[in-house]
Amino acid sequence: MQECSRKERLEGKRIGVVPTMGYLHDGHLSLIDRVRELADFVVVTIFVNPTQFGPFEDLDKYPRDFERDCEQCMAHGVNVIFAPSAGDMYHPGHSTWVTEEALTTDLCGSRRPNHFRGVTTVVTKLFNAVLPDVAVFGQKDAQQALVIRRMVRDLNFPIEIVVAPLVREADGLAMSSRNRYLSPDERRRALAISRILLGLTPGKVNPDLIWDGITKAGGRVDYVEVRDADTLGEVTRDTREILVAVAAYFGPTRLIDNVVLPHVH
Ligand code: PAJ
Repeated sequence: MQECSRKERLEGKRIGVVPTMGYLHDGHLSLIDRVRELADFVVVTIFVNPTQFGPFEDLDKYPRDFERDCEQCMAHGVNVIFAPSAGDMYHPGHSTWVTEEALTTDLCGSRRPNHFRGVTTVVTKLFNAVLPDVAVFGQKDAQQALVIRRMVRDLNFPIEIVVAPLVREADGLAMSSRNRYLSPDERRRALAISRILLGLTPGKVNPDLIWDGITKAGGRVDYVEVRDADTLGEVTRDTREILVAVAAYFGPTRLIDNVVLPHVH
């Protein structure tokens, strides 16, 4: 992969990457379309990263369809798919980790111990393989995007990070590879999350009402958080925009969603 990227760069190409875990949907494809506007040579990585899954999470049943992913990448002008095996990525004696220590202490970080350590480590490794000039991440994983931005700033990666908007199904459900776990009934109930988030009025956001609405629809709320969208910290007088972030279980499936609203003082 490095050889390929070096060759393209020697030819003056700007290299863009979209890291994914595969099972691509229109959310992923929107990131690919974005990176194609920003780079001349587009790499998509497909790797279901074991180190970001907890011991009781869905690593083994995470959906995969490599052939369909390849077709979609081809249709969207991707130049290279980098799809290493777990053995390619992690040496048996792997003992080095990249950790971000401020933004990962709550929201998904406190509920999924070691999750973000797995993400920052694998994204570092993918960056070292692909050697990109620009990388695109999705606002769907708002905390992840902030953590990657911070890592790139703090560790001086010479890579531009772009965050692309959250893509939804026609009925509002945030697109996710995990949506396929939902039964028809769970999926219908899960629409409460986006219905509530998209119905919020700036200046009138009440986390308790969001919590109650999701619970009434049959969801089990993991968290509802209202934060400064730039810092993930508490909302202050300086806050420009607020992030309303939700994680909730419908059946065994954990879904996340968020909206960003102007901060009304
Ligand atoms: P994955 O869940 O496959 O997502 C890959 C990228 O697609 C992430 O940047 C994510 O935010 C974005 N994405 C997913 N659903 C989206 C949607 N509905 N709208 C917009 N963007 C969406 O996130 C990961 O993989 C992994 O943690 C990874 C960064 C690849 C590291 O293993």
